[in-house]
Amino acid sequence: MATGLEIITDKDQMRKWSRSMRAQGKTIGLVPTMGYLHEGHISLIKVAQKHTNLIVVSIYVNPGQFSPSEDLSTYPSDFQGDIDKLKVLPVDVVFHPYNLYDYRDIESESKCNDPIRDSSGSESGDTGVVSCVEDKKLGHETWVRVERLEKGMCGKSRPVFFRGVATVVTKLFNIVEPDIAVFGKKDYQQWRIIRRMVRDLDFAVHVIGSEIVRDPDGLALSSRNVRLSPKEREKVCLLLLV
Ligand code: PAF
Repeated sequence: MATGLEIITDKDQMRKWSRSMRAQGKTIGLVPTMGYLHEGHISLIKVAQKHTNLIVVSIYVNPGQFSPSEDLSTYPSDFQGDIDKLKVLPVDVVFHPYNLYDYRDIESESKCNDPIRDSSGSESGDTGVVSCVEDKKLGHETWVRVERLEKGMCGKSRPVFFRGVATVVTKLFNIVEPDIAVFGKKDYQQWRIIRRMVRDLDFAVHVIGSEIVRDPDGLALSSRNVRLSPKEREKVCLLLLV
């Protein structure tokens, strides 16, 4: 049973918390999520519990992994419901930032004497797909790409998805500074991409893959399952038998 769940929304405060815990000799596990938590997420927390003293669950619907035609604005969410679920688990912190791509505070500090920023304006990215965060006002332009692994399977139909995932996971690793991070193998390509990124970029984070949790009809648990009609659900389950 968790004793006191802390909700942190500020990235500097999050980093400060992690560093003060580490100074006390504690290890930190991160479970990154986009919220609307279900038993699959709970199983990731249980895996993290086996490896670390403290657990941080991040809840952040990452605009960087959605292209404009995707379901960012309608992605299911129930923050209070998520907190109620986490309160009874051994989770220490919920990291719930508002916008990880908004640098306006930092920018205003360094605006003067920045010839590159001033002369380049704010051209958008080079992919031909304008992501929701390549906003002229926010000016985010740095992406992490795992070039070969991001190409096949889901990468074919979701062209900005994996660079968005790799970038936000990098951000979360840099902010939370966890010892371990747990990802579900349900998103198998994502899991492989994150492992490769951690290896290639020498992150000091041990990535653990957690087994798929399924409903009794065989469907893997997923926040987006709430959108399936009974007919669609039946169709998907039949595909599982093929
Ligand atoms: O699997 C997810 O929920 C997301 O892709 C992740 C890893 C939290 C990054 O936004």
